[in-house]
Amino acid sequence: MKLTDIRQLVHFKAPMVSRQRRVLANAYNVAEYRAAARRALPRGIFDFMDGGAEDEVTLRRNREVFDSWGLMPSWGPVTGPDTTTTILGRTTALPLTLTPTGATRLFHPEGELAVARAAAAARVPYGLAGLSTVSMEAVADQYPDCDRWFNFGLSSDRGYLAAKLERCAAAGYRALLVNVDTRALGARERDQRNGFTAPRR
Ligand SMILES: Cc1cc2nc3c(=O)[nH]c(=O)nc-3n(C[C@H](O)[C@H](O)[C@H](O)COP(=O)(O)O)c2cc1C
Repeated sequence: MKLTDIRQLVHFKAPMVSRQRRVLANAYNVAEYRAAARRALPRGIFDFMDGGAEDEVTLRRNREVFDSWGLMPSWGPVTGPDTTTTILGRTTALPLTLTPTGATRLFHPEGELAVARAAAAARVPYGLAGLSTVSMEAVADQYPDCDRWFNFGLSSDRGYLAAKLERCAAAGYRALLVNVDTRALGARERDQRNGFTAPRR
C-alpha cells in the first residue's frame, strides 16, 4: 500500500505541545479520563472522587447495573438519531443531566464554572452542589444559558434554608435537588487511609 492510500484510511494527528491538550485529545471514554485523572491528581483527591464507602460493593453494583442496560435500535427509516427530549418542561439535547459534585475545584482550578460551561455547550441541565466551590451567582452570571438546578441537604435551620432558596430564585435556578440519603457520611476507607476529610475539618 502506498503512503497516499494509507493517509486516506488513517488520519495522522499533528503533535501537540500542551500535555493537557494531548491527554484530553486522546481520551475517548470514561475509563481513559479516569486514568488521566489518576495521573494528574494527588492520591487523596483522586481517591475522594473515585472511591466509595467500605468495601465499595454499592459502587461496583451501581456500575454493573448500568453496564447491564442495552440500547435497542428501532426498525424503520434512518433519519439519524434524535436524542432531544424534555426534562422538567424544558428541552434538553440528551436525556441526562450533569449531577452535583461538591468541591469541584479540588479536581480542577475552574471547578463548577467549567462544568456549567460544558452543560451549556451540550445543552443539558446542571445541578450545582450546595457545597460548590464557586458561588451560585458566579455560575449564573457567567453561564446564563446553562439550565441551572440547585442541590442541597435538608437542614433544621429554616432561616438558612430560606436564605438559600431566595438566592436560588434570584439567580435563576429553576429546580431543586434535595439530598435525603446522606444524613451520615459513609465510612470511606480510602479517605480514612489517606487522611482526607470532606467537608473539611
Ligand atoms: C466527588 C463527588 C462529589 C459528589 N458530590 C455530590 C453532591 O454534593 N450532591 C449530590 O447530590 N451528589 C453528589 N455526588 C454524586 C453525583 O452527583 C452522582 O450522583 C454520582 O456520582 C453517580 O453518578 P456517576 O455514576 O456519573 O458518577 C458526588 C459524586 C462525586 C464523585
